[in-house]
Amino acid sequence: MKFGNDRNSSRFRLPPSTAYRQAMRYDDKTLVVVGGSSGLGLATARAFTAGGGRVVIGGRSVERLEQAREVLGDAARTAVIDTGDTASVTRFFEAIEPIDYLFTPAASYTIAPFDHPDEAALASPFDGKFWGQVRCVRAAAPKLARDGAVVLMSGAASARPPKGAALYAAANGAVEAFGRGLAVDLAPVRVNVIAPGTIDGDLWRRRPAQVRAAAFAGQAAGSLVGRPGSEDEIAQAVLFLLTNGFTTGATLFADGGYSLR
Ligand SMILES: NC(=O)c1ccc[n+]([C@@H]2O[C@H](COP(=O)([O-])OP(=O)(O)OC[C@H]3O[C@@H](n4cnc5c(N)ncnc54)[C@H](OP(=O)(O)O)[C@@H]3O)[C@@H](O)[C@H]2O)c1
Repeated sequence: MKFGNDRNSSRFRLPPSTAYRQAMRYDDKTLVVVGGSSGLGLATARAFTAGGGRVVIGGRSVERLEQAREVLGDAARTAVIDTGDTASVTRFFEAIEPIDYLFTPAASYTIAPFDHPDEAALASPFDGKFWGQVRCVRAAAPKLARDGAVVLMSGAASARPPKGAALYAAANGAVEAFGRGLAVDLAPVRVNVIAPGTIDGDLWRRRPAQVRAAAFAGQAAGSLVGRPGSEDEIAQAVLFLLTNGFTTGATLFADGGYSLR
C-alpha cells in the first residue's frame, strides 16, 4: 500500500495559491467589521469586497469612515460606533440586517507596565480591547446567521509579550479564552481568534518613526520570516477563519513564526 500524496497525480494537484485566492467569492454575504476604517479591518473589508461581498464598517470618526468608503466603493456601508459605550454598540447593531460574518479589530488602549501607579492605565487593554469585543458579540449574536462566523482580534503578545506589556498580554490572552468559550456557546456559529505579530500598516505608521523602527527590527530579529507582516497577509488569514467550515475555537498566530535563537 502506498501512503502520501503523489504530487504528479492530478487528483492531488492543488491550484497555485494566487488562483486559489482569486477563486474565493463572497457574493451575497455580509461582513461587519467593527474597526473597519483603518488598518487590519480596512484591509479585510477590501479583500472581502474584492471577492464580491458586502461590508458594513464601523468606527468612531465619521471622516475616517468616509475615507474608507471611498476606497471600498458601493459595496460598503458605514456607521459610527464606539465599542467603549454599550448604547453606541447597541445602536450600531440594531441598524444592521442579518450578519454572515463579524470581525472586531476595533481597539484603543494604552500599554502600561504592571507596576504603574494608575489602575486605569493597567485596565486600559481590557477596557479598550477585551470588553469592546465582548459588547460587540453580545449585540451581534441574535443577528448572526447559523452558518456564519466571528473572528476576534488578539495579538501575538499574548504568547510572547515584550517587556512592560504584561497587562496587554493578559488582555489578549483573555480574548483568546473568550473566543474558545464563545465557540461553544454560539455553535453552530463558528468563532475564531486572530493573533498577529507586528504588522507594517496604518497603526505603526501613526507612531513615531523611532518607535516604529524598533518594533519592526524586533519583529524581524525574533521571527522566522525575518520581517513584519503586511495588512493583506492578516486579511487573508481572517478570511480563512471566517470561511473555513471546519475551524472553530481556534487561535491563529499569524506572526511570522518564532524560535529561540
Ligand atoms: N497592527 C499591528 O501590528 C497589530 C499587531 C497585533 C495586534 N493588533 C491588533 O489589531 C487591532 C487593530 O489594529 P490596526 O493595526 O488595524 O489598528 P488601526 O489602524 O488603528 O485601526 C483601528 C480601527 O479601529 C477603530 N477604533 C478604534 N477604537 C475604537 C472604538 N473604541 N470603537 C470603535 N472603533 C474603534 C479605528 O477607527 P476610529 O479611531 O475612527 O474609531 C480604526 O478603524 C488592535 O486590537 C491591535 O491590538 C495589531
